[in-house]
Amino acid sequence: MAKPVSIEVYNPSGKYRVVSTKSMPGTRWINLLVEQDCRVEICTQNKTILSVDDIIALIGDKCDGVIGQLTEDWGETLFSALSKAGGKAFSNMAVGYNNVDVNAANKYGVAVGNTPGVLTETTAELAASLSLAAARRIVEADEFMRAGLYEGWLPHLFVGNLLKGQTVGVIGAGRIGSAYARMMVEGFKMNLIYFDLYQSTRLEKFVTAYGEFLKANGEQPVTWKRAASMDEVLQQADLISLHPILDKTTYHLVNKERLSMMKKEAILINCSRGAVIDEVALVEHLKANPMFRVGLDVFEDEPFMKPGLADMKNAVVVPHIASASKWTREGMATLAALNVLGKIKGYPAWADPNRVEPFLNENAPPPAACPSIVNAKALSLPVSKL
Ligand code: DGY
Repeated sequence: MAKPVSIEVYNPSGKYRVVSTKSMPGTRWINLLVEQDCRVEICTQNKTILSVDDIIALIGDKCDGVIGQLTEDWGETLFSALSKAGGKAFSNMAVGYNNVDVNAANKYGVAVGNTPGVLTETTAELAASLSLAAARRIVEADEFMRAGLYEGWLPHLFVGNLLKGQTVGVIGAGRIGSAYARMMVEGFKMNLIYFDLYQSTRLEKFVTAYGEFLKANGEQPVTWKRAASMDEVLQQADLISLHPILDKTTYHLVNKERLSMMKKEAILINCSRGAVIDEVALVEHLKANPMFRVGLDVFEDEPFMKPGLADMKNAVVVPHIASASKWTREGMATLAALNVLGKIKGYPAWADPNRVEPFLNENAPPPAACPSIVNAKALSLPVSKL
């Protein structure tokens, strides 16, 4: 028997019961649900990661939809419980949904929402921040200052890497990978090499145009190359950022062998999912190659780090905060709530989940659609016009 979980309730007499497994930033998402006759229950349990049993207790006997988090295990057990409670809608408050068994959701006819579009620039900005922090050894230098060790300027003190004119490698040039590439090319005049199964024509055109602009201004133009393999990127780039989704094909994509083909002074950034890198192999590589640096936002066994990683001076580590800007997190909460609300109300799925701006405009009511349902096709949901 699942233990009761503490909750905060908005609009107790609402017709539809929507549960959020966590408090989420902003109030717009709550207001949008309440305005549409939803009773909103927010879990206030003082526990960072809820167990399947906790969530079953939250779902209870009657629940129309749930907004959940990427730390939760949304599989057969939870979709079966949600379906038994009459629920047909679930949304992750995340763009990634590797914590969700979409086949299980399909089996129970539950729509699965995610939150693309709103976190592209914020995530790319963190990847860029980690790139700079690693290249210029910002964290090490900060610790040195705070420890009172600074005795005066020295020629060798915290010498790092200059990015200008070097090559940035992007593995996975989708929305976030492309935004990051543009930041590094435009901001730091780096050349680009990328690997993606799909050609990123827009990105290529951008780099070409920027290169021409630089040339016209008497500067060294930037260049781009679409690599034939991921290994080519690893071998040639000075700074590499990983942006694939996590699935069976990308698990431990960067392993011992691939680490060894990278330049000894390369920088590796990961803001995608931890298990894309074999973290044990990475720790060994960092120990053997003190000039190799990493910037990590995600870890293989979150919230834990593999033994030894925390001791490595050549690693910058932050706690999965790539999407943590106020605007983005409030937007993610809104999109997740509208995914659930839309399914409850029988709205169609939005035709282009990359273009979610109309849902984020606080000065107008959102479109009558679910912003992003990943299994819309499998469930044969109607699709809206843009
Ligand atoms: C996501 O959305 O998948 C990120 O990892 C968290 O913002």
